[in-house]
Amino acid sequence: MRVINSVKEMQQWSQEQRRSGNRLGLVPTMGFLHQGHLSLVRLARADCDKVIVSIFVNPMQFGPNEDLEDYPRDLKRDLTLLEAEGVDAVFNPEPAEMYPDGFSSAVTIEGEIAQKLCGSSRPGHFRGVTTVVCKLFNICLPDKAYFGQKDAQQVMVLEKMVRELNFPLEIIRGPIVREEDGLAMSSRNTYLNEEQRQQALVLSRSLNAAQAAIEGGERDPAKIKALLWEYIEASPLAEVDYIEIYDGEELRDINTIECPALIALAVRFGKTRLIDNLLVEG
Ligand code: PAJ
Repeated sequence: MRVINSVKEMQQWSQEQRRSGNRLGLVPTMGFLHQGHLSLVRLARADCDKVIVSIFVNPMQFGPNEDLEDYPRDLKRDLTLLEAEGVDAVFNPEPAEMYPDGFSSAVTIEGEIAQKLCGSSRPGHFRGVTTVVCKLFNICLPDKAYFGQKDAQQVMVLEKMVRELNFPLEIIRGPIVREEDGLAMSSRNTYLNEEQRQQALVLSRSLNAAQAAIEGGERDPAKIKALLWEYIEASPLAEVDYIEIYDGEELRDINTIECPALIALAVRFGKTRLIDNLLVEG
């Protein structure tokens, strides 16, 4: 497995692979890998000739009061996990390699898809995500790029970017991977103390309750939202950031739940902000 820190060397490696006729898969990550990340690596491994995983904690997508400094890192462990998955190349640049002095470009998606949900609670976040992912696409030159449904809005925003800016690649979505008790896996789960970790189960449980209500015939988003609020507020450590239901394609407001619809939650436990979602499909 090659570990590459330089943009130029990564680009050259990818160009050579493409010239040899290999189809490249890219899994962008911020490291501290868990089974959610590895599920995407496995999708790429099954689908592509060469697999690249990027590990880069992207400063541009963190707000001034967010957890950039504290974000968990363990490169050695990550590399061992990726080696075992048969990954061909890991791209692990320093921030100054990605954002040299004087860097001033950005890729932004206008419109409500990037403004609602995390776009409104984390101003500038998606601008940081689209910019870094655009750079990663230009550096790693993938035929396919893999993103998790865990970050539903992120993958919607990136699909729109790829579509509208004509990137010659395909985005593949991987399903949410959960702990046995239902908590969606996240590098940020390590911030939770025992009590918070226990109460964090309200996210997946409330979504399960919402799904059951929808399967039982409830189609009113206000009623489903009320049910979610009630469920989550019963947990004393939970502080709701948002509970929203939008259409699952462009995040438009909806008056009735038709497929696909996205039910999205962001809830804080102390300083830790967790997200989870349910895509209601036909
Ligand atoms: P990160 O949070 O490390 O996640 C990397 C990828 O793993 C994302 O596509 C995310 O949706 C996916 N993922 C995380 N947890 C998952 C889970 N429980 N099940 C399935 N997939 C999961 O998302 C980012 O990094 C960054 O924003 C990035 C795209 C790398 C840009 O910096």
